[in-house]
Amino acid sequence: MTDAAHAPQLPQVIAIDGPTASGKGTIAQRVAAVLGWHYLDSGALYRIVGLLALREAVSLDDGLALSQLAGQIEPVFQGERILLGGEDIALAIRAEQVGTAASRVAVHPPLRAVLVELQRRFRRSPGLVADGRDMGTVIFPDADLKVFLTASAASRAQRRYKQLIEKGFSAKLTDLLRDLEERDARDSARAVAPLKPAEGALVLDSTHLSIEQTVEAVLEAYRRRDPR
Ligand code: CDP
Repeated sequence: MTDAAHAPQLPQVIAIDGPTASGKGTIAQRVAAVLGWHYLDSGALYRIVGLLALREAVSLDDGLALSQLAGQIEPVFQGERILLGGEDIALAIRAEQVGTAASRVAVHPPLRAVLVELQRRFRRSPGLVADGRDMGTVIFPDADLKVFLTASAASRAQRRYKQLIEKGFSAKLTDLLRDLEERDARDSARAVAPLKPAEGALVLDSTHLSIEQTVEAVLEAYRRRDPR
């Protein structure tokens, strides 16, 4: 037998990437719950850096200062709560201006490099469902299943509107649609880890699918995958 045959297998990963408000978070959490796996909301890490930058008045254009901020964060994910130095920042990072700040900090290569190891540490037994922009392309290129989840801009704006109102934020649909299109453009055009389907990814358009149908489509693709 070769050494490769004896190499310890890393826990399995399902990578779910896609544009803003495509429902990645909801779908990834449900798939993780069905399988009994861990869940990584990688966008939360960029949102935390965005929040800290806004709070500490660090320029969103200063990649080096932002990567130093990112190097200091040790968030603890506890169900719905995200603890950062004892403070639950789960709600604060959902504000739309924090999402926009996250998208701006995410263009800086040194900052992205700092977050790579932090994200890979979430890969634990029995498996991980990870959602973001570059889960299948950069962070877990050996993922067992890669999904690119999308939906029309209009339906994503509707979903984000509902989500913000439910959390008690005020929101305007026309502003959301404009911000979302700007964010898509920035996430897709950046030089490092741009938003794009990973090679071999299942591209799933959920515009006309319910949450349950989308979850089922991901699970079905996982069951049908080529086992390693
Ligand atoms: O909730 P939404 O889909 O709008 O965004 P998110 O997943 O919370 O991510 C916020 C921002 O972080 C995105 O607009 C991306 O610019 C950035 N991000 C990234 O660059 N790479 C990731 N793996 C996840 C998020």
